[in-house]
Amino acid sequence: MFGGGDETSRRAVLKGAVAVGGAAALSACLEETDPEPVPSGPEDPSSLSERQHAWNDRVRTDDHGNTLLPRHQLLLYLTLPGDGPPEAAARRDVESALRTLDRAYERSSDGLLHSLAYSPRYFDRFGVDLPASIDLPEPRALSPFEAPEFDRQDALLHLASDRADVVLAAEEALRGNEPTANGRDLESALTDVFEVTDRRSGFVGAGMPAERQDGLAGIPSSNPVPEESPLFMGFVAGFRKNQATEDYVTLSDGPFAGGTTKHVSNLRMRLDDWYGEQSFEERVAELFSPVHAADGLVDGVGANLGDDSGITPEMIDEIRQHARRFGRVGHAQKAARANRNEDGTVRTLRRHFESTDDDEASLHFPSLQRGITTFEEVREAMNGTDLADVPTIRQRVNNGILEYVFVKRRGNFLVPPRSQRSLPTPTGETPGI
Ligand code: HEM
Repeated sequence: MFGGGDETSRRAVLKGAVAVGGAAALSACLEETDPEPVPSGPEDPSSLSERQHAWNDRVRTDDHGNTLLPRHQLLLYLTLPGDGPPEAAARRDVESALRTLDRAYERSSDGLLHSLAYSPRYFDRFGVDLPASIDLPEPRALSPFEAPEFDRQDALLHLASDRADVVLAAEEALRGNEPTANGRDLESALTDVFEVTDRRSGFVGAGMPAERQDGLAGIPSSNPVPEESPLFMGFVAGFRKNQATEDYVTLSDGPFAGGTTKHVSNLRMRLDDWYGEQSFEERVAELFSPVHAADGLVDGVGANLGDDSGITPEMIDEIRQHARRFGRVGHAQKAARANRNEDGTVRTLRRHFESTDDDEASLHFPSLQRGITTFEEVREAMNGTDLADVPTIRQRVNNGILEYVFVKRRGNFLVPPRSQRSLPTPTGETPGI
């Protein structure tokens, strides 16, 4: 398929394999890597965590204990036929397909991480409200300057692995295009029940954005994304101490105890001015805080920060004074204002990754928290609308990174615990399983 072994086009196919998907992309991966065997999952999946979102112990970590998300990621947005609630047979098919995945792949970055989540629109099918304790509103615009499309598909399947071939092989099996996944027979495909109505892909990790930047819309033609950066904007994110724990974001009671909520946005990036007009110090000031820039706290992509971004209570409390003194405010500094509870505990667990979908640089931004309202509050803090009365600060200028990111889509989902992951009712039952 490489037209006589043309090495350049071969590498291009591999880089884009998960973005493109399908049998040809899968065989391109398999031909390239002569892959190691993929570790299998347990024979008895009940030994797995009840939390579908329990990924942190299953991924690589860096020298500071920060989790490193799987390098390849896929979001499959799924729609059920008709308007009514699903039938027990559909539920059994979904569970059977997911159990096969559980057995086929070790739940880890070397194998496969996955989770299936449901939208408010899905629960509406039952004509019964979700319990009031479940904070799962329909998605809405979260800033005065965005007009996103809303993802209201029934369900969202998230697949992630350090191996592109694993993500692609799992997808092919779930779509019924392959009879097996890692040697395990599938009795039913996910597409026996759902239609895949949207497919979005991504990646995260040092080297991956730089490798994909050439010719990409949103990235200046000078290809400025540093080789060591896991993200297009040139810095690391997701320090351990600035992330909520999985325990904290887990619902502790109610019919979906053990689950969590997931907001997923998609933001387009336009980084011409980010790299073209801003110095390194200005980028540090706008992404972290002006004090980070003034005190030289960030080297290169910021790995020197260790396990904490260095956002202090003072930077949060004195943001207005900083705005006046430095003429700008930082993204992390602003968002942190709403991202702590009364005792300082972090409220959201961000698991964002980059994308070249539609041939433009973008970001898929899943965030886990106990309730969607928490995410909405954090996003409002990131908007910094309350700071735009400071003379140098405008809604999207000198106001964190808002000048460079544009929200395209938003969706809200409930991630049930594993035992309720297959087409649950609003009261958490799974009749027929
Ligand atoms: C291109 C887009 C984005 C980039 C490159 C980015 C990058 C960063 C970086 C480097 C940090 C500081 C390190 C850390 O704590 O992880 C940070 C913090 C943070 N960001 Fe973003 N971010 C982006 C979009 C967003 C969006 C859309 C939200 C949604 C509200 C968000 C919410 C946060 C929060 C809550 C923090 C932590 C603040 C704290 O509590 O300390 N970010 N981000």
